[in-house]
Amino acid sequence: MARKKITIAGAGNVGATAAFIAAKQQLADIVLVDIVKGLAEGKALDMAQAGPVCGFNCKITGTTDWAQTADSDIVIITSGLPRKPGMSRDDLLMKNTEIVKSVTQQIAKYSPASFVIVVCNPLDAMVNAAAIVSGFKKNKVMGMAGVLDTARFVYFISEKLSVSADDIKCFIMGGHGDDMVPLPRFATVSGKPLTELLDEKTIADIVQRTRMGGIEVVNLMGTSAYYAPAAGAVKMAEAILLDKKAILPCCAYCDKEYSVGGYFVGVPAVIGAGGVEKVIELTLNEKEKKDFNLSVQHVKELVDKVRKLC
Ligand code: NAI
Ligand code: 2OP
Repeated sequence: MARKKITIAGAGNVGATAAFIAAKQQLADIVLVDIVKGLAEGKALDMAQAGPVCGFNCKITGTTDWAQTADSDIVIITSGLPRKPGMSRDDLLMKNTEIVKSVTQQIAKYSPASFVIVVCNPLDAMVNAAAIVSGFKKNKVMGMAGVLDTARFVYFISEKLSVSADDIKCFIMGGHGDDMVPLPRFATVSGKPLTELLDEKTIADIVQRTRMGGIEVVNLMGTSAYYAPAAGAVKMAEAILLDKKAILPCCAYCDKEYSVGGYFVGVPAVIGAGGVEKVIELTLNEKEKKDFNLSVQHVKELVDKVRKLC
């Protein structure tokens, strides 16, 4: 049986790291595509030469030519400007819409049957842009941010309680911005509610640090995070390729769900061979609903700007 094929658009920090993680997992053959001549080719060659050391033998190629991406099963879009200190994710809107638009046109041309996982920011707006430009079915287009934001939430809880992250379950909803909505009421540690394990102030501090998780890294190293984001994107690709039916927080199309009215926003969803197979509707309380609606409203405002550019 032929190996599956993943194309990663953008061979920068997130793209190259995702390629390496996917290769180490032997998930698929990988094509890295970038506009900078030599960048994707060089990184792909370097990674391929790590194969004999790490024990993987999937094919990794780098290119500037989209024809080499033809018939990909999954395309991960990481091509886009990252944040620098002092920038919000929304500051990237104009330039990254242009990039996502041109990349998505290539995806629609060369891999019309693919699933698309968007990573570049502002995330929710860019997912909506990819969906508009590709015209793909809504279940085939999704965004990675919730896996990252939730991983940060889980990590901070595991640090505070000195327990394994494996035993912690939680969700974050809404847009991938400072107004994202971590849901401590739904967080559990080995089945025990988080709210019984930590006091209100400690939970509030963790929630705030999670919301600011991206900028904390930007301020430390001058550009945005990439190890955890790359791992998040590969986790979503893996859920599709292995038909895991994993419940992952991701940017997925919601119409009647949570009364969103036809936008891609962050929600828990079942990810499997059908892409986004189902959006999970949690029963939110009034405060959670209000916070989610506020965050969704922000996404809608950005999407309305994006629509004019697509
Ligand atoms: P980077 O600057 O290291 O890499 C971006 C790459 O895209 C560069 O190599 C660039 O040459 C390439 N590129 C630009 N236009 C292209 C085009 N038309 N076709 C192909 N390649 C093109 O940036 P990094 O750190 O990898 O971040 C990528 C994006 O992901 C940014 O927008 C960043 O904000 C976003 N991001 C999103 C996260 C999330 O949770 N959703 C987390 C981390 C980053
Ligand atoms: C992050 O949250 C920059 O969106 C990126 O790290």
